[in-house]
Order: sequence, then C-alpha cells, then structure tokens
Amino acid sequence: MMTRSRRLRTTAALRDLVAETDLRPRHLIQPHFVQPHKGSSEISALPGIVRAGVEDTVRQVEQDLKRGLRSVLLFGVPDAHEKSPDAKACHDHAGVVPKAVTALKKAFGSDVIVMTDVCLCGYTSHGHCGLVDEEGTVLNDETLPLLAEMALRHAEAGADVAAPSDMMDGRVAAIRTRLDGAGFTQTAILSYAIKHAGAYYGPFREAADSSPKFGDRKTYQMDPRNAREGLRDALLDVQEGADMLMVKPALPNLDLIWRLREAQLAPICAYHVSSEFSSVKAADRLGWVNGDQLMLEHLTAIRRAGADMIVTYAGREAVEKGWIS
Ligand code: PBG
Ligand code: ZN
Repeated sequence: MMTRSRRLRTTAALRDLVAETDLRPRHLIQPHFVQPHKGSSEISALPGIVRAGVEDTVRQVEQDLKRGLRSVLLFGVPDAHEKSPDAKACHDHAGVVPKAVTALKKAFGSDVIVMTDVCLCGYTSHGHCGLVDEEGTVLNDETLPLLAEMALRHAEAGADVAAPSDMMDGRVAAIRTRLDGAGFTQTAILSYAIKHAGAYYGPFREAADSSPKFGDRKTYQMDPRNAREGLRDALLDVQEGADMLMVKPALPNLDLIWRLREAQLAPICAYHVSSEFSSVKAADRLGWVNGDQLMLEHLTAIRRAGADMIVTYAGREAVEKGWIS
C-alpha cells in the first residue's frame, strides 16, 4: 500500500494539522428573546434558553463576550396586549428591541455585533409575518413600509445589522431605501434568502409567542422541495442591497448552503433553528445520544458546507463548556 489515509489520523495534533474546517466563537451568533418586563422565564421547548428583560440580557451578553461570543440576534417578545392587527408596536420608539439595542451598545459599543430580527409575527394579533386582509390573505406591498420602519427603529438605536425574516417580496429594497433615506447607510442587511416553511420552527414559536392563529406560512415562506427558486431569491436579495444571506433551517439545506457558496454572492449565514437544537436536547435527555458531541458535529457540518457564520441556540454552551475556543 502506497497510500495509507490513517497516517494523518494517528494523533490529535496531526488531525488538527490537516483539519479543513474551523469552528470558532467568532462564527457563532447567539439568539436572545427580549421581553418588556424584568427578570427571565424559561422556554420549555428550548432547554437553557430564556426570555429575558433588557437588564438580564445585557448581563448575559457580558458573560458571552468574555468568552468570545460577539454576535447577538435579538427577537422582541412584546406582551400579549401590545399585539394588534396592524403590528404597530413593531415600530414603537419605546419598543423592547430598540431599548435592548440601546442598552447593549451603551454597555459594549463596537465589541458586540447587534443583529435584530425584522418581522411582524411577534407583534401581530393574528401571528402572521405581514398584514392580513379580511379574507386572511397576507398582504405583501402593504407590509413593506412597516418592515422598513421597524428596521429604521433598530438602526436608530444602534443596531449593526437588520435581519428581515418575514419573506415578503421586495423587503430588502424597501428597508435599504428607508435606512439610506434616514442616513443609516452603514447599517447592514442580513436577508433570509432561503427560508423554508414547515415544522422546523415549533419551539421558536413557543419562545416568541408568534404562531399564526389561522392557516400557515406557505404563501410566503419557501417550499422545501425547491432549490433553484432559493438561488434566484438569493440573487434578487443581493440586487436589492442585501449584505449577507441567510439559509434556514441549516442541516436540511446543506446542499443549498454549498450552492450559494459556489455562487459567491455574499457571506452566508446558516440558522441552526429551534427544532434542530431541541431535537438534540430531547434525544440527549432520553439518554439516546451524546448531545454535546452531536451538537458540535451539527455546527461543524454547517461550517463545512460553506456557512461563514451560524445562528445557534448552542452558542453559549459551546463557549462555556469549551467545545470550541
Ligand atoms: C419569525 C422567525 C421565525 C424564526 C426566525 N424568525 C419563525 C417563523 O418563521 O415562524 C425561526 C427560528 C427558529 O426556529 O429557531 N419570522
Ligand atoms: Zn415572522
């Protein structure tokens, strides 16, 4: 035998020498659910993740920053009485997300990268990501100004990146135009280019209290059977001014992450979504898998497929437990 692949697998040092994929804290983005009142409450379907008030969120981010976790993605969880058919609380100057952004930037400045979710579903009484007419149709063009206004509120508070997850057509252009018009030319947009409809977001909807009260999201989120459509949408988003592209969920879409990578359009972010995280936790609790190891293997595979960065609920654990450093 001339070639023995095992030679370079002999020791940990040799394996590190030839490792093709690097997973570091700088690649991870930690989601936060921010609520208007103090304290924090557990989310049963997302073990270890909480809904927290602004002060608690700042304290948590302080811990994470010390361990090298520099990026956060904020989701606002307004009280039930703040929800309305027109989602007006989403662009409130005194809303929970602008408050959290302001507090984080005051505390940590440019040490923290603050990304904010831009979508109506947490703020609408019906739970859809856009405005809805009498027949229950989710309205596209009527929703755009609200998204743009919401993104502007976040930018005014100091957000580095607006991340629209609503899946309306033309929203990147609408947000870009609104931000630029108000002088926020340096606020970046991370656009959900590929976001599939389906069962993957169950635990998140418990966390964010954002389930649709009727119907589903199939008229705006993509059909998981389609790949070419996603690549076209990614191109459109870039043409409209997106700086980075999101693919979600992550593991079911490694093929699309890879193809987007080859298209070389923009940095790619993959969202290791709530049920991808929770399934690992559940199987670990049952004693069926080694959850820590499995979670790390998920994240590594996502990086190997070509994601530049990963939104993951396991970010804090990864740095706290020393899976990565
Ligand atoms: C809101 C939004 C969702 C997620 C991110 N932003 C839920 C949805 O589209 O219903 C899912 C994230 C996750 O499951 O972790 N538009
Ligand atoms: Zn939404």
